[in-house]
Amino acid sequence: MYSKIVGTGSYLPEKILTNADLEKLVDTNDEWIRSRTGIERRHVVADNETTCDLAEHAARRAMSAAGINADEVDLIIIGTTTPDQLFPNVGCLLQQRLGIGGPPAIQIEAACSSFIYALSIADKFIRLGDAKCALVIGAECLTRLIDWSDRSTCVLFGDGAGAVILKPSAQPGIISTHLHADGKYSDLLYYPTGPSKKFNPTVACQTAIQMKGSEVFKVAVTKLGGIVDETLAANNLDKSAIDWLVPHQANMRIIQAIAKKLELPMERVIVTVHNQGNTSAASVPLALDTGVRDGRIKPGSLILLEAFGGGFTWGSALIRL
Ligand code: COA
Repeated sequence: MYSKIVGTGSYLPEKILTNADLEKLVDTNDEWIRSRTGIERRHVVADNETTCDLAEHAARRAMSAAGINADEVDLIIIGTTTPDQLFPNVGCLLQQRLGIGGPPAIQIEAACSSFIYALSIADKFIRLGDAKCALVIGAECLTRLIDWSDRSTCVLFGDGAGAVILKPSAQPGIISTHLHADGKYSDLLYYPTGPSKKFNPTVACQTAIQMKGSEVFKVAVTKLGGIVDETLAANNLDKSAIDWLVPHQANMRIIQAIAKKLELPMERVIVTVHNQGNTSAASVPLALDTGVRDGRIKPGSLILLEAFGGGFTWGSALIRL
């Protein structure tokens, strides 16, 4: 028994923030942002929108693509770093919207790797026979965690959501997943506060993402390169077998480095970072849905998904659509 993706969906909030808009906020410029990151614009949630709103749109589109009704879903796993509230989790809030009650609703936080973690867990539920129709989502309002006066981070992130429906299949859909984390890097990319931490007025910048960009860059390229090798070796595959790379969309230069390692031309890499920035947990399912809906990714394609995020966490999934 395997699990297989039978529908994808995604959603981006309406408001667009261009590099030119950011030039009015901080001392930056379009040329610097494009050349360092590949980002040209990003979508930003409206004041009254939340992660659950974005997740709902993406979920409805994935269910529609899969041709299923909400009451068929018997497992919800949502990856996010930016839940609407501490509890109930976003999966429970989403159940209310979708009018379904009963199935487990799980929220996973592994920063930008959250969707790959969620997909891996949902795959195991299905392969064990514990679920027959899983709704797996990556949804994020990361711009809510940004200090808009910090040019080193505010140019990088955006908001959005992506979702897939997983069902049991006799043929491998999810072929293998590979998850990792190493907490020794926790001071390179983090959000400093959480509910169990007492507010300390002597510590500056407690409510915005903190990042040592160039160090994150180096570890990301090394770990993602390693997980590509691990995924190919686990499946006894040569890199030439991969039809499509659907990478985490953090930075164009990281994406190009991984494509080069796979000897894949950029024409076989789904790139959305220029239009969306880094949408964290949403980036991989957003890119997957983009490639599926514009017809580039066809049924039967062998696809490598990969992600890297704060923690550090990183992971991959080898899938056949
Ligand atoms: N506009 C203009 N200048 C900027 C800037 C901006 N938005 N942000 C930083 N700079 C400046 C810095 O202050 C620094 O100036 P200085 O030399 O006078 O001190 C200079 O640009 C170089 O900064 P540095 O951080 O070394 O640049 P970089 O080449 O490493 O690029 C990143 C910065 C963030 C684009 C790059 O490190 C990166 O992409 N890292 C990975 C980040 C990431 O993907 N995080 C999420 C992982 S999931």
